[in-house]
Amino acid sequence: MKGIVLAGGSGTRLYPLTQVVSKQILPIFDKPMIYYPLSILMRAGICDILVISTPRDLPLFQALLGDGGDFGLSLSYAEQAQPNGLAEAFLLGRDFIGGDSVAMILGDNLYFGDGLTQLCQAATARSDSATVFAYQVEDPQRYGVVQFDPRTGQPVQIVEKPEFPPSDWAVTGLYFYSNEVVRIAAAITPSERGELEITAVNNAYLERNLLEIVQLGRGYAWLDTGTPESLHDAASFVRTIEHRQGVQIACLEEIGLEMGWLDPERARARAAILGNTRYATYLQRRIRDLAS
Ligand code: G1P
Repeated sequence: MKGIVLAGGSGTRLYPLTQVVSKQILPIFDKPMIYYPLSILMRAGICDILVISTPRDLPLFQALLGDGGDFGLSLSYAEQAQPNGLAEAFLLGRDFIGGDSVAMILGDNLYFGDGLTQLCQAATARSDSATVFAYQVEDPQRYGVVQFDPRTGQPVQIVEKPEFPPSDWAVTGLYFYSNEVVRIAAAITPSERGELEITAVNNAYLERNLLEIVQLGRGYAWLDTGTPESLHDAASFVRTIEHRQGVQIACLEEIGLEMGWLDPERARARAAILGNTRYATYLQRRIRDLAS
């Protein structure tokens, strides 16, 4: 399965923070935001990943992540010239996807919770259908929202940013699709806001009875980073867990080592480059742990 991280958008709600730099490169506590979604794809077992961003910001991601070798990944890059919607990623990534199934994660979505890796691995195994994750939120009108049949409890449709949300279950920014997604994305038309909506793609799968909506319960965190407040909350969350447990969330080199993709020698060299930081010390410890 291939992976896509979509890190486009203008991040206007974070101005002036994002006036000259991509939102997805801003820090969430001790690492750039894009590390977090990358870590989710990696734990799902995906090492061939396309990063999509704006022409302005793509060079920054290339400078930060390179060819992915530092993490045991194979990374490629593509530009999204205009904010034409999330589903455009499958058109921009058509050659990259080839004949494979594909997972996409939004570059500003932060997930945390024991069991998430298993859920993602199960989703990658369903290569002929689609899987999305829904999460209960206080402000569903900001998202794609699942409407359930009141009688059967089955999902009926997903409504994008509804004024009157049919439920409080938001569809989160992590999507697993069969190869069919390339044809589905090519067939949908722009919405009223002029975007190729991911919700239209999900509804196409739902109509074919090929959409699994996994509801993430209270034991999971799905955090937003769209405003200064939520950015701060996400950083606090990461700091709290990391300090309490002495673990790093989204240490990409650690995951590369655990997956068997990254050579310990290269990880050691990488830790040396990262200098005298908590992150580097942690990485050195994990290299030792995993070798014994
Ligand atoms: C997008 C999707 C929406 C989804 C959300 C998750 O919203 O359109 O369906 O719930 O991501 O973060 P947007 O980023 O366009 O506001």
